[in-house]
Amino acid sequence: MNETRQAPPPPEVFIIGCGDIGHRVAELWKQRGTRVRALARSEERAAEYAQHGIDAVRGDLDAPATLKVPASASVIYFFAPPPTKGTTDPRMQHFLGAISPSALPTRIVYISTSGVYGDVQGAWVTEESPTNPTTDRSRRRLDAEKKLRAWCDQHEVPYVILRVPGIYGPGRLPIDVVKSGRPILRESESGYTNRIHADDLAAICVRAGEADAPPGIYNVSDGQPGTMAQYFKAVADLVGVPHPPEVSLEEARRVLSVEMMSYLTESRRVNNNKMIQRLGIGLSYPALSDGLPTCQA
Ligand SMILES: NC(=O)c1ccc[n+]([C@@H]2O[C@H](COP(=O)([O-])OP(=O)(O)OC[C@H]3O[C@@H](n4cnc5c(N)ncnc54)[C@H](OP(=O)(O)O)[C@@H]3O)[C@@H](O)[C@H]2O)c1
Repeated sequence: MNETRQAPPPPEVFIIGCGDIGHRVAELWKQRGTRVRALARSEERAAEYAQHGIDAVRGDLDAPATLKVPASASVIYFFAPPPTKGTTDPRMQHFLGAISPSALPTRIVYISTSGVYGDVQGAWVTEESPTNPTTDRSRRRLDAEKKLRAWCDQHEVPYVILRVPGIYGPGRLPIDVVKSGRPILRESESGYTNRIHADDLAAICVRAGEADAPPGIYNVSDGQPGTMAQYFKAVADLVGVPHPPEVSLEEARRVLSVEMMSYLTESRRVNNNKMIQRLGIGLSYPALSDGLPTCQA
C-alpha cells in the first residue's frame, strides 16, 4: 500500500460484522493507534474480541431493540452479510435506524458484492455499469446499498461502497472441496470470476476509512479475472492433490449445488481502475499466483 499518505487516523472505528475481514481491519487500525470497537451478538464473541484488543458493544442486527451505535464512533464499517432469505436487507435498515442523528459518523464503509452487476457474459464492468442482480443474494446486497446511499444522502454522511468479488486468503481456501474429489465445471465452459486477497481487502477498507479517501462506489478486484476451474486447480496444486475432475455445464447442473451454479453461470470481469487511481491502492497480491503462497497451512 502507498505509505506516503498523511491523513490522520480516526480516533475510533466501529465494526459491525467483525469476522475475518473485520479482524484484519481492526488489527491495521490498532497499529495506527485507533481505538476499535465492534458489535458482538454473543458473550463468546465479546470475549474473543477482548483477546484481540477490540472493545465489544453488545447487540444483534436481527433484534433492532438491542442495537446502539456508540456516539464516539467516527468511522463505521458495515461488514455483516444480509440474511439468507428474501430480496431486501433488514439488517442494514436496523443499523441505520440505530444511529443517533445527533452523533453522526464521519463516514460509513460497506462491503457489498460485485454480484450486483449480474451476468454480463464476460464483459468488463466498471462502477458506471448498470446493476442487474440475477440472484436473491445479490438483490439483498443491492437493497443494502440503496438503503445506505439514501440514508447517507439524507444525513450528509460520506459513504464508501466496496463491490467485492471472491475473497481468498489464509484459512479461506476451498481445500475441502479440492480434497473431496468433487467435480468442477470444465475450463472451456467456465465464465470469468474475480478475486481479492483478504489482506489486500483489509488494507483497501482501511484506506476507504481515511478522511481524504474520495467517497463513492468502488469495484474491488486484483484486476486478474480468471475461471473457477483455474482457481480450484491452483488450490489443488498448492495442497498437493490431483486436479478435480471436470464436467460439462449440463452435467454440472445435475451434480453441483444451486449456490455453486449461481456463481458459475455469471461471467464478468471487474475493472479496478477507479480503486487503484482514486483510492491510490497498491496491491500486495495483484495476481492469484502472488497471493496463494501466503495461504500455505
Ligand atoms: N466470501 C466472499 O468471497 C465474499 C465476497 C464478497 C463479499 N463478502 C462479504 O464480505 C463481508 C466480510 O466477509 P467476512 O469473511 O469477514 O465475513 P464473516 O467472517 O462471515 O463475518 C461476518 C460477521 O457478521 C456478523 N453477523 C452476522 N449476522 C449478524 C447479526 N445478526 N448481528 C450482528 N452481527 C452479525 C458475524 O457475527 P458472528 O461472529 O456472531 O457470527 C460475523 O462476525 C461479509 O458481509 C461477506 O458476506 C464475502
